[in-house]
Amino acid sequence: MNLLRVAVLTLDGGTRDLLDKEIGERVSASALDPDTDEAILAHIGAHALSRYLPGEVLHALQTFTHTGRHALVLRNLPAGDYPPTPVTGFGQETPLAETNAVQLGLIQLLGITPFAVDYENGGRLIRNVVPNPSAAGTTSSWGADSEFFWHTDNPHLPFGEPGSDPRLSMPRYLTFYGIRNEEAVPTEIAAVEDALPLVDDATRRVLRSPAYDIGAPASNDAEAVYGNTVILDQGPDGTLVRFDRGTTRARDAVAASALQAWIGALARVPRRELVLGAGDFLIFDNYRVLHRRSRFTPAPAATARWLRRCYAS
Ligand SMILES: [Fe+2]
Repeated sequence: MNLLRVAVLTLDGGTRDLLDKEIGERVSASALDPDTDEAILAHIGAHALSRYLPGEVLHALQTFTHTGRHALVLRNLPAGDYPPTPVTGFGQETPLAETNAVQLGLIQLLGITPFAVDYENGGRLIRNVVPNPSAAGTTSSWGADSEFFWHTDNPHLPFGEPGSDPRLSMPRYLTFYGIRNEEAVPTEIAAVEDALPLVDDATRRVLRSPAYDIGAPASNDAEAVYGNTVILDQGPDGTLVRFDRGTTRARDAVAASALQAWIGALARVPRRELVLGAGDFLIFDNYRVLHRRSRFTPAPAATARWLRRCYAS
């Protein structure tokens, strides 16, 4: 059974070039930084995207959060002449203004709100997902040499309610924009609905009970823990999941055995491998999708894999 629903759309070269020209011109008039000029970048991007994207693509974006789809990929967006990969994690944002306008414009068309949190990524809105030598041996979006097991991002936070401050909850959606990926490393995704049938009823009941302590991932500055919480929860439209193998602790032996069964199920879960290259955008539902990245050998630093990640709820 494969319940994972992913929309994959590809722009033609003519549309890409129109977007590139208009957005490139409009962002070049001033220095635009996503942390101070997020609304202006989104405004520029969304305007051009609304004007040039084919109707079916616009419709897919505007309805995505209501369709129950797990993920959406939009390929062949503008890809600039990019600077070397900032493997330390941070680089100049101004040269990426066009890419930032496209990513933030897409987030606006999706009808969701981008946000940063002050305890992660230096409080910056957009994270450079790069193989950072200082993260060697850690399971982090800055890692490369360690496998990153199936997880949801920031599972130590509660699920959010519509209309609430997104910074207080798990990010509902993760968005990525590909800058370069010569190593062709996939981002793998799996639907929680595909993992559920791989464990028995009794195990599911334990996973739905507050029998776990779930900590913050390595990318967080603070060591926050969500105590006495669940791995699986019931949302208005189905099951929600919070999980990170590295930070989830069972509170008793019954919970520990259910956790082992869950980890075993995830090893067998149907998955989709998405290789994001230059100009490829991905969004997925962090409440219903688990994701992971296998270990890989990065290209030389200047051309190493580089994705741009922005949370949105
Ligand atoms: Fe992640």
